[in-house]
Amino acid sequence: MQNVHTILAIESSCDDTSCALLRNDRVLSNVVSSQVVHAKYGGVVPEFASRDHERRIVPVVIEALEEARCSIRDVTAVAVTRGPGLMGSLLVGLSFAKSLSLARNLPLIEVNHMQAHVLAHFIKSKDFDRVPAFPFLCLTVSGGHTQLLLVKSHLDIQVIGQTLDDAVGEAFDKAAKLLGLAYPGGPEIDKLARRGDPLRFSFSESQVPGYDYSFSGVKTSFLYFIRRELETNSSFIGMNLADICASYQRHLVRMLLSNARRAMKDLGLKVIALAGGVSANSLLREEMQFLCEQEGWDCFIPPFQYCTDNAAMIGIAGYYKAMAGEFTDLRLTPAARLPL
Ligand code: KG4
Ligand code: ZN
Repeated sequence: MQNVHTILAIESSCDDTSCALLRNDRVLSNVVSSQVVHAKYGGVVPEFASRDHERRIVPVVIEALEEARCSIRDVTAVAVTRGPGLMGSLLVGLSFAKSLSLARNLPLIEVNHMQAHVLAHFIKSKDFDRVPAFPFLCLTVSGGHTQLLLVKSHLDIQVIGQTLDDAVGEAFDKAAKLLGLAYPGGPEIDKLARRGDPLRFSFSESQVPGYDYSFSGVKTSFLYFIRRELETNSSFIGMNLADICASYQRHLVRMLLSNARRAMKDLGLKVIALAGGVSANSLLREEMQFLCEQEGWDCFIPPFQYCTDNAAMIGIAGYYKAMAGEFTDLRLTPAARLPL
């Protein structure tokens, strides 16, 4: 008989404190507490983030256990994000997980946050148990990363393209800041874009060889465009906000999908998935679905609760690592940079 794993998973790599409980590949609870302290600074302040994780981690774990109707005695393993992420933030989750592992004599599993974003597609629930077939291409788009991944198995993932500078999430967030929108700006741009004209303005595109991306040129072209327009009309942003958002969003989405499309064709793949916080973007989801219908590809877009950072994805990655016997020990240290 197959072992039943009850995994308690912790995620604290950036500004979300999260704990989930999984029974094998099914989620029993997934509590995410998003920090609001950063909003007024227009970006995540690392020192505030780690202090806030420290305040939130115990209540979040208790809530996750209660919601899952589990006692700490039911837990058979602890999974935790080792990196990549903010050092101080990772340290809080990791110290908590190590203490729990030591106190309850539980096996410890380290998880790469980027691998977990991909493996979120393997979380099963009563209304969702379709999973991508290997090999597939995954476009992972978040606040810190933009990657095209060739996923050969749960634990064999190869980076075939990535951003050479900014992540696409940063391209959304920094533009939003310039427009005076609240942080994080991605969802704000998404909301405003719905009532704007996506063909009204155009922006420059950097040519990068292979399947890599570059967003710093687009960001700069956006900055110059706004400055130029403000010189002649100081109300330019207020008068054209929805059109600016729609045009800029369309530009970023087209950049993301053009490399993905080329990689799919070159590699002869038939299955494609989206992952990471920016996969919550409504235009990206729509365009991805449209592209897949046109090309006859099988398309996987994560449910909203598994797009942005959450511990359920750490739990599912922990489950596959536990199945492969990949455990770690108490010498585990966080890694701000951690390759896949
Ligand atoms: O994966 P994630 O939660 O955290 C990181 O690991 O970075 O991604 C956060 C990023 C932020 O840049 C946020 O603006 C972006 O995801 N984001 C969106 C949307 N929802 C979140 N970007 C565009 N449209 C959205 N609807
Ligand atoms: Zn993330």
